[in-house]
Amino acid sequence: MERRAVDQLTRVAAVSNHLRAMIHDGTLAAGDPLPSTRTLAARLGVARGTVVAAYEQLDGEGYIRTRHGAVARVVGSIGPRPSDPTPAPAPRGSSTRPTWSPAVALVAPPGSIDLRPGTPSVRAIPVRDWRAAWRAGAEEPLRNALSDAMGTRTLREQIAAQLGLTRGFAPAPDRVVVHAGTSDALSVLAEALRIRHGRPGRIAVEDPGYRSGRRAMLSAGAELVGVPVADDGMDLAVLEALAPIPDAVMVTPTHQYPLGSVMPVAARQRLLVWAAAHDVVVVEDDYDSEFRHRGDPVPALAALDAHGVVLHLGGFSKILDPRIRCAYMVLPEARDLAEAIRASRLARGPVVSEVAQSALAHLIRSGALRRHLGRVRRDYAHRRDLLATRLAEIDRPDLEARALSGGLHAVLTWPGRPEAAAVRTALAADGVVVEELARYAVTPETAANGIVLGYAAVTHVELDRALDAIVDELAAR
Ligand SMILES: Cc1ncc(COP(=O)(O)O)c(C=O)c1O
Repeated sequence: MERRAVDQLTRVAAVSNHLRAMIHDGTLAAGDPLPSTRTLAARLGVARGTVVAAYEQLDGEGYIRTRHGAVARVVGSIGPRPSDPTPAPAPRGSSTRPTWSPAVALVAPPGSIDLRPGTPSVRAIPVRDWRAAWRAGAEEPLRNALSDAMGTRTLREQIAAQLGLTRGFAPAPDRVVVHAGTSDALSVLAEALRIRHGRPGRIAVEDPGYRSGRRAMLSAGAELVGVPVADDGMDLAVLEALAPIPDAVMVTPTHQYPLGSVMPVAARQRLLVWAAAHDVVVVEDDYDSEFRHRGDPVPALAALDAHGVVLHLGGFSKILDPRIRCAYMVLPEARDLAEAIRASRLARGPVVSEVAQSALAHLIRSGALRRHLGRVRRDYAHRRDLLATRLAEIDRPDLEARALSGGLHAVLTWPGRPEAAAVRTALAADGVVVEELARYAVTPETAANGIVLGYAAVTHVELDRALDAIVDELAAR
């Protein structure tokens, strides 16, 4: 990275880290006004643009709200980090072993409105920025050498700097490894666990949870065990009671996939302390944390990790386009596992084209990705509000809308009848394709009755039409 760009990122990170810390320790409380960017820049002796970028960053993370022409204010406070884990409550559920089954690629019929989650608003990327990035990627000088299987230096540096700005921890670029999507990263992890332990790795996963991720780990020979999800994320009492103790546990602490719960700080601490005590790797799938619509900001689990047990996973599928097939892993500090992951990655070779990696690095470095995120964040928050308002029209007290605090999807659950499968079929007949909640479950028989709605990829008009059909369908039953 160019020296000047590095200095600028460092200054922005210093200002945003300082303000973030003041919000964490309560020096700045919910509703408190922040100085104008001009005043703070003068006070700190930095350029006004540095403070503007830091405010934009904190706004994006949900710490503060900036509105044109209005004073920026603190949104909420997180509170101090607890030093003691909370005592374990009695187990509320039990674990189940998922087994491998083939993926069925479902294609939505032409002309239907596809609300199955997974795709962001790809059309929102300005064509000019997109083309400039790919041109920059293609203009890299040709070399007579193989790519680094860990990812290009430039992209790893940009990712590391970006994490420092947005997720509260700044890894050394050497600890960042680039993969062809999260699924690829997880199959590398499964292989590395086998190398490390000399037997199939045992990985605890959320139930319900990320099905494609489970499939990737099972295909790579891992043994999985499903742990039920409670209101605060994975049920830690069930996890802690597992025998044998798993080698790794995979969680989505910022926005549980798909139910949307946020793992509170106390539960995060408890998970990290337990993992450190039992030499368990905590895989944090940070898949859509850039989009937080309601509630206090949620830093990455890796930002709290004083034990070096977290393996952080992020990617470009939700923030840009899943077709790029690029995700990254920040290696945990456990040296032998980090080495096993590097060995597995090396054996499989480089998987993301260097041109694509350079284009992504350019999108980050030029600020185009940050601008894109600012725009789609507002759009998704608007869609989320529309969805919440329309669903509230359904006069059924038993209906619960979940996962609305952030991300790109919502979940609707209701006890008893009608069966979610019947609702899905009726909606499909109306030209609206939704996903059943049971499809995410490790144990579908015990899954809550519900449907999952992705609201980012369709147009506003399509979303409106689909919501008409959903409201009619559920109100009628
Ligand atoms: C829970 C979860 N994690 C990660 C991802 C990203 O997957 P990939 O990087 O393989 O596109 C997704 C995409 O839908 C997801 O739902």
